[in-house]
Amino acid sequence: MEVKTFGVIGAGQMGNGIAQVAAMSGLQVIMSDIKDEFVQRGMQNITGILGKNVEKGKMTAQEKDAVLGRIKTTTSLNDMAPADYVVEAATENEPIKFQIFRDLDSICHPEAILASNTSSIPIGRIAAQTRRPDKVIGMHFMNPVPVMKLVEIIRGLPTSDETFKITWDLSVKFGKTPAESSDYPGFIANRILMPMINEAVYCLYHGVGTKEDIDTVMKLGMNHPMGPLALADLIGLDTCLAIMETLFAGFCDSKYRPCPLLRKYVEAGWLGRKTGRGFYEYK
Ligand code: CAA
Repeated sequence: MEVKTFGVIGAGQMGNGIAQVAAMSGLQVIMSDIKDEFVQRGMQNITGILGKNVEKGKMTAQEKDAVLGRIKTTTSLNDMAPADYVVEAATENEPIKFQIFRDLDSICHPEAILASNTSSIPIGRIAAQTRRPDKVIGMHFMNPVPVMKLVEIIRGLPTSDETFKITWDLSVKFGKTPAESSDYPGFIANRILMPMINEAVYCLYHGVGTKEDIDTVMKLGMNHPMGPLALADLIGLDTCLAIMETLFAGFCDSKYRPCPLLRKYVEAGWLGRKTGRGFYEYK
């Protein structure tokens, strides 16, 4: 099957980034979200990034217009009907994702592949919501999507070789480097990254260091581009907590218990950059 039309569910920081890289690769893109204001914000973000690319001489104004012209937006999932491949990048919440997959299964044509950008929910559990489990797969992009080279591809038990190959080839077409992971909570990326971030929050909680010192140690001592607390703010503290909960429940192992301070920040609505306050404050 040749993928020509690519659907993206969710126009937030991951969804609009995925829509941008798909449109830049030449695909027709349909990007949806539940509210028009979310879709408009997603399009504004893409327009801003492409505008900067034009200023930097990385693309021409005509190329920018052509990319934008390939992205259609909608607030109705029914408009995903023509899509050959759909990536769901909705909030990291199981019941919401399950409902989206049940809906897509009845809306999309039988050959269409349904992928999830979930950061930790087992793909097999998502695939079981559909009547096409062989066509369900994990396609996990990293934030910020236009910059980060990796796509982590997760095969569920029922995922077919054809679905895997189409996903691998699409990742390469998007200019990314794919890596394969088995279907266990957190996969590879968040099995390793999130306990490190959680431990950094424990360091803050136990008073081992200030947020600045913790981040400086990891930036300058380990050559990480950002400290773990600044990275948590970029990812979203609600997403970090959701992933730790999935690891904790999935492995029944206390080494994955979320730090109480992380939970406290989330309960206070301090979710990181997107709300203007997390471990740091943002204008
Ligand atoms: N969208 C698009 N482009 C962006 C961007 C964004 N949100 N943020 C930065 N960029 C671009 C800049 O425009 C700049 O482009 P040029 O080289 O063309 O000028 C380039 O990226 C570098 O940006 P800056 O100079 O402003 O800043 P930087 O060098 O510090 O890089 C960063 C910023 C890329 C975010 C870098 O700090 C970094 O790599 N941080 C770590 C990010 C990371 O670990 N991401 C994975 C998170 S985990 C995840 O996503 C998975 C999950 O499931 C939770």
